[in-house]
Amino acid sequence: MGPFGTEFCGYFSIVRYENDAWQSPSVERLAPLSLHPAAHVFHYSSSCFEGFKAYRWEDGKAHVFRLQDHVGRMRKSATSMRLPVPDADMLMGMVVDTVARNIDDIPPPPSSLYLRPTLIGTLENIGAAASPSTEATLFVLASPVGDYFEGGFKPVKLLVDDTRFRTTEQLGSTKTGGNYASALGPTLDAKAKYGVAQILFCPCGDVQETGAANFLLISDEEIITKALDTSFLHGMTRDSILKLGADLGYTISERNISVDELLQKVSTYEAVLSGTAACLTPVGSLVYKGEEITVRDGGAGPNTARLLEALQNIQYGKAPDSHHWLTTVG
Ligand SMILES: Cc1ncc(COP(=O)(O)O)c(C=O)c1O
Repeated sequence: MGPFGTEFCGYFSIVRYENDAWQSPSVERLAPLSLHPAAHVFHYSSSCFEGFKAYRWEDGKAHVFRLQDHVGRMRKSATSMRLPVPDADMLMGMVVDTVARNIDDIPPPPSSLYLRPTLIGTLENIGAAASPSTEATLFVLASPVGDYFEGGFKPVKLLVDDTRFRTTEQLGSTKTGGNYASALGPTLDAKAKYGVAQILFCPCGDVQETGAANFLLISDEEIITKALDTSFLHGMTRDSILKLGADLGYTISERNISVDELLQKVSTYEAVLSGTAACLTPVGSLVYKGEEITVRDGGAGPNTARLLEALQNIQYGKAPDSHHWLTTVG
């Protein structure tokens, strides 16, 4: 299988919003879209998306992880982008239909089917910077993806940047392309200058997240992560780890973390990134003000491995779905 996100299933779901209403979604052969060059999305970035996975178990059925919650987050993103908000049942149906139509192309765990609902503003108007797109296209793309950890559960190095914002305050918790565009330049510069994988954005000393993953500190007793606010994306992996952590007896501390506290805690706490693509990725070291600080012994920690296993056991059907996070298809 190619790198994450480079292979696509043969079918996708698509629906148009026009005349103030969603039309009927259909599953079609994957093909390029035809869009007017004046489409709102090209000029004013009226778009948002989601990313989550379906796992095919030995029973031949597919099991979509946290479908309802991802659809809820997509609706929040659409609201924040002032795009037509997809009906929850319609979007869930589109995802289920996409999974069902491509079910034979879903590789077995630890591989999966990555699902990417995407909503774009298609109003043909290049004078609409200050008005919303009243026409839109929503589609659900499906991509078989391999094991992110192939070749090992490798710790990454992060740059701690205590000056820069990842994105704007009003869009921080919206899953929209502009946020990734905003983080891209600084992240590429940091990779070139410090050899890091990502920037941990900590504007004004407040530890937030990286370009595409949340950040957690974990000890034998406690999981600490920033409390929900509008500055960062409310990750479903983060939420799942906090719930499974609570089940396992960890104290869950959702609160702000300062850079000073971070630097002090990493001598004993495990540091991890959480997200759909990376699940839990251990952080091996931090670069701050030109100095590299090792997180514990620089390796993946036992609590990270324990929490990751608890999560994957549910996703792979090896443990009961006690939180009702899975939607079965097939
Ligand atoms: C900016 C950002 N933060 C956090 C996450 C993790 O979110 P989730 O766990 O829902 O995949 C992602 C990935 O979707 C992301 O793009």
